[in-house]
Amino acid sequence: MKKIVAIVLAIAMIASVAVLSGCSGEKKSESGKEKLTMATNAYFPPYEYYEGEEIIGIDAEVAQAIADKLDMELEIVDIEFDSIIAGVQTGKYDMGMAGMTVTDERKQSVDFSDSYATGIQSIIVTEDSPIKSIDDILAKDADYKVGVQLSTTGDIYISDDFDKEGKSADLITEFQTGNDAVAALASGKVDAVIIDNEPAKSYVAATSGLKILDTEYVTEDYAICFSKDNTELKDKVNAALKELIADGTVQKIIDKYITAE
Ligand code: ARG
Repeated sequence: MKKIVAIVLAIAMIASVAVLSGCSGEKKSESGKEKLTMATNAYFPPYEYYEGEEIIGIDAEVAQAIADKLDMELEIVDIEFDSIIAGVQTGKYDMGMAGMTVTDERKQSVDFSDSYATGIQSIIVTEDSPIKSIDDILAKDADYKVGVQLSTTGDIYISDDFDKEGKSADLITEFQTGNDAVAALASGKVDAVIIDNEPAKSYVAATSGLKILDTEYVTEDYAICFSKDNTELKDKVNAALKELIADGTVQKIIDKYITAE
């Protein structure tokens, strides 16, 4: 009996793997349109987040507008932020769009489109925190614990600064998502979280007892990344993006999700 169950399970597994790989290998969608797969990490409001089962947000809408312009069918895939660049490099995904900051280091691995938005790395602390600025965190004798999302620029900058100041990297905890980092702050496991300003605002609004420090840590540009081997797609997407920026569509989408204070 056990043997039969094992065989049935094995067949089921092979079948599901075959179905899955069949899907990902296919370029054309059911509608006959060419597919445009976008890798993201959907815990980054207002750029990408879940509403029910659906991933919505600025990046999702800008990507949809690009796909419409190119007559392609957009497919959004939610993966770990840390895996986006590698997935794009190997061609598993056509592009990465995740409120992703353009950095010189990333440019060694992938190509970027024009920038479509800006971000600021900000610092979230508890309302009663003694931390007033990044200098308090970087002070030689301070031992504040900092939470970040793994491999984000917040992680990279604070790790570099800790290194420069001769501070122990053990004080930095890298979480898989921004949500996890903020939950750790709310429960007192870390003393500060470094994260992009717009997600910071969403998290602080959703969690009581937290605030964003007034001081800005670093300002940066967001863009879409592509494999260096796929300049044809990059050029097509970039041309569509340029038009959508020029005719005000991108700004309209941003304004829908980010209301000026
Ligand atoms: N802008 C930061 C970076 O590029 C954070 C992006 C995180 N994005 C996300 N969808 N979780 O490193």
